[in-house]
Amino acid sequence: MPDLIRDLETLADGARLSIGAALDERTLEELRVRYLGKKGEISLALKGMGQLAAEERPKVGEVANRVRDEVGSLLDRARERIQSARLEEELRGPPIDVTLPGRRLLPRGHRHPVTRASEEIVSIFSRLGYEVATGPEIELDWFNFEALNIPKDHPARDMQDTFYVDEGTLGAPAAEGSVLLRTHTSPIQIRAMRRAGAPPVRVVAPGRVYRSDYDQTHSPMFHQVEGICVGPHVTFADLKGTLAAFARAFFGPATRTRFRPSYFPFVEPGAEADVSCSLCGGSGKREKARCGTCKGTGWLEVLGSGMVHPKVIENVGFDPRKVTGFAFGMGVERMAMLKYGIGDLRLFYENDLRFLEQF
Ligand code: DAH
Repeated sequence: MPDLIRDLETLADGARLSIGAALDERTLEELRVRYLGKKGEISLALKGMGQLAAEERPKVGEVANRVRDEVGSLLDRARERIQSARLEEELRGPPIDVTLPGRRLLPRGHRHPVTRASEEIVSIFSRLGYEVATGPEIELDWFNFEALNIPKDHPARDMQDTFYVDEGTLGAPAAEGSVLLRTHTSPIQIRAMRRAGAPPVRVVAPGRVYRSDYDQTHSPMFHQVEGICVGPHVTFADLKGTLAAFARAFFGPATRTRFRPSYFPFVEPGAEADVSCSLCGGSGKREKARCGTCKGTGWLEVLGSGMVHPKVIENVGFDPRKVTGFAFGMGVERMAMLKYGIGDLRLFYENDLRFLEQF
């Protein structure tokens, strides 16, 4: 037997021993380099092939291949053995503490103050038993005006400078069935009552609304939350109690509420609700000066409300002799400004992080 074959067999014996004794993957990697590497022992042994007689070369080659394959598979099996031993050990060891707080690698961000205010308003009414409803932002004239007792020539249509969508009516008086960007969330009252089919209906509806308006206190797109509660014996006392409870929940427990008569075509009687100023506590004074938020009056005007007009009840197919109810609507930006003491509405839309991160 040529020396080379004996060398290879000796080498294989050594490899079996050392691979069998290896305890970690780093040692295995070292052994792989030592036996199978380009400058490893097998390659080195084969350097002597040149001096062999031609008929001996294939035999040596065969042995070399066998040894290489064996060492390779020994290494693979050893790796599996070491890995599964490590897993066993981890499983036997103390369990992972899943209650450990995570490491915060990225800042998490937070919701926009308008979103926060809107969600808070909706959540207060949810706790009072209201369901949440939504409606389309592109609305039919009938839902936005007509069904709410705002006929074609009604001056209330001028108060809400409307974006009409259908080309034929751009700039022209709205035609029957025309399409527009809703000017308020009140059409969701109509949709919610028609969808319910019968009273009682108790719904809050948040959403975006659009008017052709732009200055320090008006933006062409803003947000409202609408509410409606209709049923067999709903009274103005229910309206006052509900809105007073809402005001205390949103602005704080000491908040007082007052109602002033007002006009909206879809309610009768109609009222605007004021709350005692959340920033000066209703005194009209802050740090010995006039409170800028309520302009020294101690009161903030926060929403429109009223008893649902019998014509509106009729328009959704309910019987106005049997069904009464109240409705209300408020501007979310305005509520957020009053709650957080923000002076300029436009700050909400500039997306300046220095402003947004304060909430
Ligand atoms: N839709 C009215 C507006 O946009 C607000 C409003 C007033 C809603 C009285 C109501 C209500 O539901 O009863 O100015």
